[in-house]
Amino acid sequence: MITTDQIQTVRQTRRADPTLSWGLVPTMGALHEGHLSLVRCARAQNDRVAASIFVNPTQFAPTEDLATYPRDLAGDLAKLKAEGVDLVFTPTEAVMYPPGFQTTVTLSQVTKPLEGAARPTHFQGVATVVAKLFNIVQPTRAYFGQKDAQQTVVIRRLIHDLNFNVEMVVCPIVREADGLALSSRNAYLDENQRPAATVLHRALLAAKAAFEAGERDAEQVRRIMRQTIAAEPPARIEYVSAAEAAALVEVQQISGPTLLSMAVFFGKTRLIDNMLIND
Ligand code: PAJ
Repeated sequence: MITTDQIQTVRQTRRADPTLSWGLVPTMGALHEGHLSLVRCARAQNDRVAASIFVNPTQFAPTEDLATYPRDLAGDLAKLKAEGVDLVFTPTEAVMYPPGFQTTVTLSQVTKPLEGAARPTHFQGVATVVAKLFNIVQPTRAYFGQKDAQQTVVIRRLIHDLNFNVEMVVCPIVREADGLALSSRNAYLDENQRPAATVLHRALLAAKAAFEAGERDAEQVRRIMRQTIAAEPPARIEYVSAAEAAALVEVQQISGPTLLSMAVFFGKTRLIDNMLIND
């Protein structure tokens, strides 16, 4: 496994045999089974697999957890090696954003609701760094988790709008046995918050069950999710949504593919979860 923080080394490795297919798994490190599921999918579908580890500062707002974001480079590299990854790109901030850097990628619509409403600068940071990673690695396929549902919509749009020659693959959410979606931020939950945090998944399941029982009124579905979450006192809702799955605009009636999603605080820890229904 080649590990490098140099763009030149990535390019040389990628170009050594242009006939090989490459899968790219972009990450911010602190790798768990969710990340590794993307790596396994990439490993199965490509001749070579690259992963990137970069805690991208431009997608964190000044008030967010950039400084305390978990970092474990040695542990991450051991996990990636065990999965048979060929190349790990671990750039520094100076490599990605050298002095004079001033170009950004902005999407005007799909970045506005949901996570974008709560985190107005987040997706510009994500889209810019992912565009850079695509240009640096030039992967055949790139792997993203459904966990960050809006991120997959943003990147699909980015690939299409800027004609990146990359096939996007979205992998299912990996959950703990009790339903909590794996996230680096779960480590911040205390012993009271951790059991309560399963309420995100329970709320999604309750909403899905209502839909399957015939409920088509989206506000009623949102209400079911809010009520389920409100029953866990440590949980504080930031948003609960039932939106059209491609444009991410709130719906009144559930008629097409619909993304149920939410952001919920437990103390200072902000968790997100989602489920596609009527897909
Ligand atoms: P990060 O939060 O490290 O996540 C890397 C990838 O792992 C993302 O595609 C995310 O959706 C996926 N992932 C995380 N938890 C998952 C889970 N429980 N199940 C399935 N997939 C999961 O997302 C980012 O980094 C960054 O925004 C990035 C794309 C790397 C750009 O900086």
